[in-house]
Amino acid sequence: MSENSPNEVSSDEQTEKELKPLKVENPLPVTAVGIESVKEGKPQTMSSHRRLYPWFAMRPTAATRLAVLSSVLPDDIATDRLLKWIGIGPNVNIEDIESYVIKKRQTEGDRDGSVEDHYGYEYCHRDTPPQSELNELQNEIKNHWNGELPTILDPTAGGGTIPLESARYGFPTISNELNPVAWLINKVILDYAPSVGGLSEELDTWTSEVEKRATEKLKEYFPEKRGVAPNHYFRTYSTDCPSCGGRLPLANQWWFNRKRGKAVRPVYNSDNMELDFECVDVPDDVPKSEFNPDEGTVDDGDATCPHCNVVTEREDITEIFQNGDFNYEVCAIRYTDEIGGEEYHAVPEQEKEALTRAEEVIENNLNYATLLQQERYIGRQDRAEPYGLTQWRDFFAPRQLLTHATYLDVVNSLKPQIRQQYDEKTAEALLVLLSMSTTRLLDRNTRLQPLNLDGGSPANLLGNNNFAFKWSFVETNPLAGTYSYAEEARKLKTHYQNVARQTAHVDESNVSIRQGDAAEMPFEQESVDAVVMDPPYGSNVMYAEMSDVLYVWLREYLSDVFPNTFTSQETDKHSEAVENTAIVEESEGKSKETVAREKYEGKMGSILSKSYDLLSRGGVITIYFTDRDTETWDALTMSLIKSGFVVTATHTITSEVPKRVAMQERASADSTLLLTCRKPLSDSDDDALPTLWSDIRKKTREAAKSKALELLESELNLTKTDIIISAFGPTLRVFTESYPVVDKHDEMVRPNRALEEARTAVVEIILERELDESLEGVDNLTRWYIACWLVHERENIPYDDANQLGHGVGVDINAVKTSTKIWSKSKDTLILRGQSYRVRDYSALEAGEKRRKRAYPVDPRESSFDHSIDAVHAALNIINTKGSDFTWNWLNERRLQEDTKFRQTIKSLLQVLPETHDDYESVVNLISGETGELLDIDISLISENDSSDNKRTTLEDF
Ligand SMILES: C[S@@+](CC[C@H](N)C(=O)[O-])C[C@H]1O[C@@H](n2cnc3c(N)ncnc32)[C@H](O)[C@@H]1O
Ligand SMILES: [Zn+2]
Repeated sequence: MSENSPNEVSSDEQTEKELKPLKVENPLPVTAVGIESVKEGKPQTMSSHRRLYPWFAMRPTAATRLAVLSSVLPDDIATDRLLKWIGIGPNVNIEDIESYVIKKRQTEGDRDGSVEDHYGYEYCHRDTPPQSELNELQNEIKNHWNGELPTILDPTAGGGTIPLESARYGFPTISNELNPVAWLINKVILDYAPSVGGLSEELDTWTSEVEKRATEKLKEYFPEKRGVAPNHYFRTYSTDCPSCGGRLPLANQWWFNRKRGKAVRPVYNSDNMELDFECVDVPDDVPKSEFNPDEGTVDDGDATCPHCNVVTEREDITEIFQNGDFNYEVCAIRYTDEIGGEEYHAVPEQEKEALTRAEEVIENNLNYATLLQQERYIGRQDRAEPYGLTQWRDFFAPRQLLTHATYLDVVNSLKPQIRQQYDEKTAEALLVLLSMSTTRLLDRNTRLQPLNLDGGSPANLLGNNNFAFKWSFVETNPLAGTYSYAEEARKLKTHYQNVARQTAHVDESNVSIRQGDAAEMPFEQESVDAVVMDPPYGSNVMYAEMSDVLYVWLREYLSDVFPNTFTSQETDKHSEAVENTAIVEESEGKSKETVAREKYEGKMGSILSKSYDLLSRGGVITIYFTDRDTETWDALTMSLIKSGFVVTATHTITSEVPKRVAMQERASADSTLLLTCRKPLSDSDDDALPTLWSDIRKKTREAAKSKALELLESELNLTKTDIIISAFGPTLRVFTESYPVVDKHDEMVRPNRALEEARTAVVEIILERELDESLEGVDNLTRWYIACWLVHERENIPYDDANQLGHGVGVDINAVKTSTKIWSKSKDTLILRGQSYRVRDYSALEAGEKRRKRAYPVDPRESSFDHSIDAVHAALNIINTKGSDFTWNWLNERRLQEDTKFRQTIKSLLQVLPETHDDYESVVNLISGETGELLDIDISLISENDSSDNKRTTLEDF
């Protein structure tokens, strides 16, 4: 409540009416929890419930436990106790566990033994505290919540991470999830695991039976070679060349295992224009000059015929696929033996016969011929439909379809026996687990299966969050090797049994699991005390679209087991809270994007107001923000405020990264913001007086700045994006405390404005602190360019981030795009351009080539430039093409040595450009030697982080 609240209440009344503060409303050990969350994030060390079955965006246990426990613990609980309950800290008594963890993190790289030994405790997800400690924890919590344990709800439970932890600590728990696939995972971990247990013998018996029966049916289609089973097949397509009629293969590359130099080489027969394949070692058997596996017959959708060299264009190729005028080819086989040895071979004759037989069965068996002959929903992540994949069965080459159909048949044939032999619940659990064990195969065996080029094996289908067509794909042998049924069943059993062990103490009657829209949760009003949720973020993951491939199969297995859940043909896209342009129409002059965003915002609004209704007075909601798109933050914050919630705390769980390591791969920030709100004890008066934006603008900046400074001054090695996101928390708090906010025209101000303000303030601080030279006075475009490099440390950056940075420094990046060519766009990514892209080459100009202004906006012959960055880029071109004497004159003629802005820009570029960037070396050349003397720029800046000298010596060593 603000200090000069208009409705003052007497102090007695106030105590009575005040919300009792919670631990989450106090400082939290976010650093230790961040470290722990990163630790458990590697696939080998991830919690078993996350590895049971494919699902998206499942969160680490440590962060989840922090969110759950701190939302219900009273504020005066010591932080060390909280960490112990989370499972962080060694078994011996130490004070200040967080500092201990930070020290351990800093020395992790020098350890001898395992990570667990080094830290002195297990990964936290493996255990919950012993019963005596659980009792202590529960007593503390009961005292706070009028003698009862609070009920915890997750409205969008996904793979169930939040409800699982809530149940493990013994809280009455409600898990709600729209998607039946995710709901099924919740069923397994929160219902079957605690109630029927690990089913160790039963699972062994029945998975072996599935394996035995399926092997009998399938083995003739996967012939072995001298007793060694095939593991993966390199597959592609071919068609008749529309021009010469020859057999035209349609692959865009020919590597099978690039790391080991194994490639498929097409062999063309000029007599009959036919096609065959051999398997070669590159460069051992064949030098790359003779055959380069990077070059397929297809490039950017166009195919070049190897017989007649005629190019068939993309439109014609897609038509060929749509008409089904193509053949499936199998080109090479990777065999693995039982001890992991591998060999790559061309395809033997018997393999081709087996494939033909598989095709025949698929065509002639009545069930198989119609299986999943079902039109597919084509969503915004779909890039396969243009190639004729319009029905679900089109996702599979004939033998892949036969594989999946056979497992389906086998499990269905076992149902009567299983139902007869076990009680209802156990039979249900077994049928679900068996269906999961077989449908796990789907993630590695489709026509869209990406080939892991460095392993000769399939990458997972759902990993990229899209359905992209693959010119070549991998098929797996379900009967042997990696990703065989036996392997998938073994993994499922291991992970399920781990979850069963971890939930053995959970009373499943304490847990409800509902499948349905969170906006319509049918629970009693005010029956929930805490909502902890990790909502869908805009268009980040299209859950329903992606999960359909699993759903349509699970439906074939389980519609008799769950007749009310697997009813619809596909998953529900319309109730889903995602920004989905595929299901909306443009309306009233609004673009699809705008309509989709409004629909998302509307749905999240309904989910949050439903949650508000279900919460008891004084109840708490803690919501994760993991996205980086501030538009989504804006939508969520707005929905929270509109529902009646009051923001009371924000925390950022950041994840440290070693400096500059793998920056290219870090497409998104890993930090998670927790935003906590309370449901007020009484309804607030809706007529709260609006605050003027100009009154709180400064406060917003201050809040962001002080958070950023705190982090910059800490020992933590955070990315700049993490720092910006961390500053959003305090900013949102200022904003919501002052809500509603209006501008001087009495127009409503949205949270976005505050976030933009925060970003600008933090970037200013970062620029100030990290650059030796102030950029004061330098033009905005140059400032923007340098800020982008400084914050992201790479040339490909998320478009939204760059756009926001532009707003911050007063550049409309779209307005400058064509005239400056300083950036270009590829999907949602913006690429920062260097001099070679922007400056017309000086030597070419000298040679009399006409300069096309649109192609190269910067002309190095000009005597002055619009922006400092243009002058610098021109200078870099000059030093590259004309050498230092010429450059000396060029600089002198333009009096650039006296231009402080020019020098400031050069110095800053030197600091922000990665050493691997083409322009970096040119900058170094410009400020060393004679031109360096002219410009008089402090060269020590180079030696500080320049390793190009070292690089040169290494090169000479060759
Ligand atoms: C970020 S994920 C949750 C991940 C989860 N915290 C975990 O660790 O597994 C968000 C989930 O919201 C679900 N969802 C989307 N719209 C929904 C709706 N209207 N009602 C309920 N759940 C919904 C999605 O299916 C998705 O599983
Ligand atoms: Zn041809």
